[in-house]
Amino acid sequence: MNSTLSLSAAILVVLANILLCRGITRHYKFDINAHNVTHLCKTKSIITVNGKFPGPTIFAREGDRVLIKVVNHVPNNLTIHWHGIRQRGSQWADGPAYITQCPIQTNQSYVYNYTINGQRGTLFWHAHISWLRATIHGPIIIFPKKNVSYPFPKPNKEKTIIFGEWWNNDTEAVIAQALQTGGGPNVSDAYTFNGYPGPLYNSCTGAKGMADTYKLKIKPGRTYLLRLINAALNDDLFFSIANHTITVVEADALYVKPFETDTLLITPGQTTNVLLKTKPNPSHTTYLMGLRPYFVGSGTFDNTTASAILEYTVPSPGPKNVTLNDLPCLPSINDTSFFTNFTSKFQSLNTAAFPVTVPQTVDKHIFLTVGLGTSPCPKNQTCQGPTNTTKFSASINNISMTLPSISLLQSHYFGQNSGQFKTDFPQFPLNQFNYTGTPPNNTNVLNGTKVIVLSYNTSVEIVLQDTSIISAESHPLHLHGYNVYVVGQGFGNFNSSKDPANYNLVDPVERNTVAVPAGGWVALRFRADNPGVWFMHCHFEVHISWGLRMAWMVLDGMLPNQKLPPPPADLPKC
Ligand code: C2O
Repeated sequence: MNSTLSLSAAILVVLANILLCRGITRHYKFDINAHNVTHLCKTKSIITVNGKFPGPTIFAREGDRVLIKVVNHVPNNLTIHWHGIRQRGSQWADGPAYITQCPIQTNQSYVYNYTINGQRGTLFWHAHISWLRATIHGPIIIFPKKNVSYPFPKPNKEKTIIFGEWWNNDTEAVIAQALQTGGGPNVSDAYTFNGYPGPLYNSCTGAKGMADTYKLKIKPGRTYLLRLINAALNDDLFFSIANHTITVVEADALYVKPFETDTLLITPGQTTNVLLKTKPNPSHTTYLMGLRPYFVGSGTFDNTTASAILEYTVPSPGPKNVTLNDLPCLPSINDTSFFTNFTSKFQSLNTAAFPVTVPQTVDKHIFLTVGLGTSPCPKNQTCQGPTNTTKFSASINNISMTLPSISLLQSHYFGQNSGQFKTDFPQFPLNQFNYTGTPPNNTNVLNGTKVIVLSYNTSVEIVLQDTSIISAESHPLHLHGYNVYVVGQGFGNFNSSKDPANYNLVDPVERNTVAVPAGGWVALRFRADNPGVWFMHCHFEVHISWGLRMAWMVLDGMLPNQKLPPPPADLPKC
């Protein structure tokens, strides 16, 4: 009797624990609508979620289930991607169009349904079709489980700043025209802080554009956690706050060893949390924050600077208004040494609570070149790509990906491939050349829909090698469904006999978006323990449009929880 009682008591305790640790379900509704927004003196109808630009924030705790009903009220087909959410067991909720789902058509809806496990920090969501993410994006904030604290001093307050780009013209027309002519797309008209370009741009909305300016109000002597997101389409960005130092504590929703910096570099697709200690006795009431691109390569880019205001809200000595001379000092546009220095500062926390699980041995080595290329100009057309006789293109191992007409995940799950894709994606370049030296004579890419198939639990090393075809450029590569460990990086061509000796296999940073250095390489490791079809692409929207994208097909494991589940009933039809 006694033992039965204590056994049932023990079971009750276990049950209660399970119940308490389990997250809650959070419901969101995203109505996709056109909405008028005014910036840079121009009122423009843009596509938004719930009439907001940037869009609404998804709040959750680690362990919570999130249900987002997306209702499409606009003529465009679209999908939403939850950038950085690993989607274990919810592969159908990942969102990239024609990879894991067909788009949600006008007047249709789809419920994205996933549970956030083993992740906490800042991520973001965005449209994942054509260039619609220009206006359809917003933060995802995942707090630690109840009664679990941050591994750094508790901030007094938290603020989110999402960096973006503003176009006076319709971005769908911009990319449609570029793909038609084969030339580079028009560039944006401004960078933005939470949607606002700031006083360095022409504005009709008040003295020196202050009404078109984001203000971060702070109190002296406090610690703020700033959640920073780069949602810009095509630009790596430098960010700095005049006269303040920040401490980086997290990257892509993973804690890192804290380090201090004056300036941050953040690529599209990356998110970073930083601590800002405000001055106990500020000499100014306001300080400027600055934002401008890092860019190497050829072609045009938006060479403007956005700014925003850090404003101390309590009385402080000598109130003073900022002038543009008060801009923080930002690195020069092409400061690649800053880039290298900065990215090498990131290291995983590597503690008992947040251990590093980087594969120490590799089952499969894969070497992928990433970069630009050309496509022939169709007969009877004039093109505006390289040498004016070609169209711009981009590729991975010289394959420029054509999207299928049914999602790859559907073709895979139903086993009715019917020619939608091939499984012969080259795991090494078919033609070897001096990748960062003189480009080959023929720079034409091959078109195709090919995947790399991985059996469950393969440990993979991918070396991503930039090429100098057209021009060497940095490429922020994003892998869906996984985080990857960045075990090495360098300039020039990767040397497989020398470079691995310098890998960091102890505390490498783990990210979902990794910058391939301009004219260099980066080595990544991960374990393929999430079955499904996972997109990998450059997070510059222009490069993804030109074909710098591919997919990984990870096969099921033996156990029930290692299998791709069936699709939800409301999965959009093609
Ligand atoms: Cu943030 Cu496939 O994208």
